[in-house]
Amino acid sequence: MAHRRALRNERWIDMEETEKKEKKIILSGIQPTGIFTLGNYIGAVKNWKKMQDEYNCAYFIADLHSLTIRQDPAALRKQSLNAFALLLACGIDPEKSLIFIQSHVQTHAELCWVLSCCSQFGELSRMTQFKDKSAKHADNVNAGLFTYPALMAADILLYQADLVPVGIDQKQHLEFTRDIATRFNNVYGNTFKLPEPFIPKAGAKVASLQDPTKKMSKSDENANASIFILDEPNVIINKFKRAVTDSEKEVCFREGKDGINNLMTIYSAVTGKTMEQIELEFAGRGYGDFKLAVGEAVAEELRPIREDFKRYSEDKAYLEQVYRKGAQTAAAISARTMAKVKKKVGLLAL
Ligand code: TRP
Repeated sequence: MAHRRALRNERWIDMEETEKKEKKIILSGIQPTGIFTLGNYIGAVKNWKKMQDEYNCAYFIADLHSLTIRQDPAALRKQSLNAFALLLACGIDPEKSLIFIQSHVQTHAELCWVLSCCSQFGELSRMTQFKDKSAKHADNVNAGLFTYPALMAADILLYQADLVPVGIDQKQHLEFTRDIATRFNNVYGNTFKLPEPFIPKAGAKVASLQDPTKKMSKSDENANASIFILDEPNVIINKFKRAVTDSEKEVCFREGKDGINNLMTIYSAVTGKTMEQIELEFAGRGYGDFKLAVGEAVAEELRPIREDFKRYSEDKAYLEQVYRKGAQTAAAISARTMAKVKKKVGLLAL
């Protein structure tokens, strides 16, 4: 099959000697729960693809983080594999980037423990995501939900990442990561690089099609609120037709026109057109025309991804080959940091 190629992850293997000095390291993760939405795609994975040439990129499926909410085991396994196939279908290239599944690389949980011992109860209690999720899942406020930021810090610090592309909702976790890294470096000597958040421009945030004041979410109860990246073209077009707008007629980007602003943002992200170009294109035409154009553009953008996803998910042997190779490389890279950490904190070497 065309997508079957030898995998070497060479860039990462040779990183220490060569590219590390020239190329910055980008790292990001995505949880495997639920199919990605158009929001995940435009806000994250589409940019991940673009960054592959300019940076040394590491992307992973954050399955350990998903355990902080109760999961059905069989469903989680399936979703992790699907999410991995989806990364490939979105153009993440295992020849260029390191891609792996978090739970396959033991150093993540290991460093998480050490960092948990450097995290204070007070600062973890102040995390807004912890407060939100513990209110939402009041029957399962587990310790993992509480130490979630320490695991995320471990993910990032193990690879000495320079830049971490995340949504605005994860910014506080990144600040926490920097705080922990600084504290550790001060106590034990320089060990971790301090990562910078890399937050896409305001435009890249996609809202719900049914309530444009809310973020587009994988778990919205309203089926018309979110576009899933594997939706069929006719489903996509219909959801856009039903998108909530306002009672005016003019396609223009303006305060208070949340619905239209959101559709314009999506159209702009997909076509590369500026807001002014879009306003001109639809001047004197109604919302109906505009919604149809957005629906068609999105359906076209997602078509090859859906097709590639199908191809990859039917080739389990290839997926396994890619994630095995990724896990090996990730283990080798992260082991360097882990060994330093163990030595510095006083764990006896084996
Ligand atoms: N917490 C992130 C989210 O839910 C996912 C994640 C886990 C992550 N580890 C990470 C993102 C490390 C960036 C870097 O969106």
